[in-house]
Amino acid sequence: MAIGKIIIGALAALGLGAVALIEFPDEIQTYAPNLIPAPLAKLLPPPLPRAEPPRTAYWLDQNWRQADRRWLHHASQGTATFQIPYSWFVALEQPYIWLFGQPGMLRDGAFLQRLGFIPSPKTDASAAELRAHGFGWSSAPEPAPIEPSTSLGWDPAPNDNGLPVGFARLKRDDGPDMIGLTCAACHSGHLEYKGASLRIDGAGAVIDLEKLKSVLEIAVAYTAFVPGRFDRFAERVVGPNASAAQKAALKQDFLATAQRLKNQDDTYDRIVADSGQSNTLAGAGRLDALNKIGNQVFYTDLVASGVAVPDSNFHATDAPVSFPPIWDVPWFFWAQYDASIEQPLIRNVGESMGVAALLTLGGADPAKLYHSSVRMNNLLWIEDLLRGPDPFAGAGAAGPAFSGLGAPKWPAALFPDDPAWRIDPAKVERGRKLYAELCAGCHLGPVNDPEFDKSFPERRFWQSKHWLTLPRSAEKILAPPEIPVAEIGTDPARALVLSKREVDAPKNLGIVPQRDLSERWSCGMTLPDYSSGHMPFSLALMVGVDDVIRKWMDEHDLSPATRAAALGPLKNCPNPAQQAIYRTRPLDGVWATAPYLHNGSVPSLYWLLRPAAERPRHFCVGASDFDPQTVGFATAKGGRSSCAIGETQFTAEGAGNDNSGHSFEDGPRKPGVIGRALSEDERYDLIDYLKTL
Ligand code: HEC
Ligand code: HEC
Repeated sequence: MAIGKIIIGALAALGLGAVALIEFPDEIQTYAPNLIPAPLAKLLPPPLPRAEPPRTAYWLDQNWRQADRRWLHHASQGTATFQIPYSWFVALEQPYIWLFGQPGMLRDGAFLQRLGFIPSPKTDASAAELRAHGFGWSSAPEPAPIEPSTSLGWDPAPNDNGLPVGFARLKRDDGPDMIGLTCAACHSGHLEYKGASLRIDGAGAVIDLEKLKSVLEIAVAYTAFVPGRFDRFAERVVGPNASAAQKAALKQDFLATAQRLKNQDDTYDRIVADSGQSNTLAGAGRLDALNKIGNQVFYTDLVASGVAVPDSNFHATDAPVSFPPIWDVPWFFWAQYDASIEQPLIRNVGESMGVAALLTLGGADPAKLYHSSVRMNNLLWIEDLLRGPDPFAGAGAAGPAFSGLGAPKWPAALFPDDPAWRIDPAKVERGRKLYAELCAGCHLGPVNDPEFDKSFPERRFWQSKHWLTLPRSAEKILAPPEIPVAEIGTDPARALVLSKREVDAPKNLGIVPQRDLSERWSCGMTLPDYSSGHMPFSLALMVGVDDVIRKWMDEHDLSPATRAAALGPLKNCPNPAQQAIYRTRPLDGVWATAPYLHNGSVPSLYWLLRPAAERPRHFCVGASDFDPQTVGFATAKGGRSSCAIGETQFTAEGAGNDNSGHSFEDGPRKPGVIGRALSEDERYDLIDYLKTL
């Protein structure tokens, strides 16, 4: 307390330009937030969890070749997420102020690990380095290579500065290279257990993007104002021999950028406050991706292109979701929690627009409309790697199988002497029956359990009636059940974003949903006339993304055959469902994807199998160890009231945070109850079975 006061006093008294001693910013923000006057709070970095370097690390075997995995971790999808050049990002120092010495670099893997990122080796790391330093790469045998679906190739993805998994350099000819996030930032998970870090491609990340943003902005502010810091920064960016004029130009550019970022934030805060909405904290492991995409494309990008837009195009981020696992998804007819996107390229390009690909949505030259920095060739190759070959074509004696990114298998061999890690075959046997009784109706049979297929042949996954044959290709595609929100009873906020949010699509974008969706893609539906430009966000986004794709294809002179191969057989049509829904998914790899439900409101499989009203209303995310018994994050009895420093405390309160529904309980059936109550033994039988999927 006393230290906090002295530091705050010192900072307040000395003002921004002074050197103050901030030795314990994490502790102050956690224990004494009220001591910090509001404007200063924005200038102190948020508390971050400590991240002990793991004793050992493992990337689990998931049917991907190491070279492909490492490429995916840094391949640019064309995004400039942080709106600053790459060379600036790698030259920034951590936002701390030391009386003696200099703070470490922001880009440092050990620092960014505290925000949930996974350290990644430099491209030219030796085999020994790959295994050491907690990088976790082994020299396991490699699976067969995957064939690309187009001849467009992909760009190299060097990681020269050893940035963590998910950071990618956007190469440009028409401006400085920028820094952005790629898929792996949000879709690579890790579980910590007994000093080991298990790393999983395609599992939800536990990164905290809100904190990353504030850490970065404070690092920028400190660079601008803390004495000595800009000079060191400039030396790293323009080199030690740069002229005074070069340094002055950099400073001007830097200050203007810092100001622009701040103004942008102020504008967003003002709009949200004026509209009476409020943002829900996403915290570690979550993001309101959909509202963010809407804000980026229909507000930020339009404003940046000089097009006037109403404030109402900006929406609070109040429907955060847990980063979903992405194995198998390329074989689903509908992607997204709410089954809203059929066409994979539309999904991926839409996402990269949301994560701030550079986009021209206006300006003097109409021929540039929809020009973007999206790296379509990389996106296509990423999708190929995720998808793998047709599971039915050439299926061997063992039957069809997914052979793109594989769901992780429970790594039983890692902790052989640990009773908590062991799976009990007798429980698995009983759990399998419970799965058939209580889960398979919605989640379908298990993807790969020959025992189950023998015992319950009518529920076999690969023979399910949910596999549809597409009229436009011989391929089959899975349409897992879609359950109305009213029935499943989980938090409705996410399912309502697409049906409720509306935007004004300015005239210059030329968006006409009936023509651009229903006719262009033969969706066979009659959409209302939206000639005023005011329309559902979902339709405006679907058309806008399609136009960005077409522009890229035109600019790259793709032949009709390559266009067709890139788009594949799926269409860009709205889901015809008449009500808000959540889609189910097969549960392979589900053991590695806590917290559960679309909004990450349930800490473990154990609590998902308890009646909803009994689930903990608080739990900690970000630094906790994995609990192999409940499978997820452990909770103290009665719910822990405080988390480790810097961890996110999830609280089942506020918009988007309900932990209701998907409940197993006895008594009269009511919305949100989907099965009978389970005994404690039955829960653990099911959990052991789920670990084998
Ligand atoms: C900034 C974080 C972020 C990045 C980067 C990102 N995603 Fe996602 N992704 C999400 C979130 C959040 C969702 C869930 C969206 C929803 O349904 O609300 C999602 C959904 C998905 C889904 C649908 C999952 C399902 O269950 O249907 C797929 C597939 C996917 N992402 C693939 C990708 C690919 C491929 C990339 C890179 C080209 C990518 N994502 C980049 C955050 C991200
Ligand atoms: C009535 C259909 C239905 C039944 C029966 C059902 N589920 Fe679900 N399940 C869903 C839906 C829909 C979701 C997505 C809900 C959401 O995210 O809000 C879901 C989500 C889940 C998730 C969370 C996945 C994630 O994204 O975090 C798990 C785990 C799960 N179910 C396990 C089970 C198990 C185990 C059983 C059987 C004991 C079961 N479910 C029975 C429909 C069902």
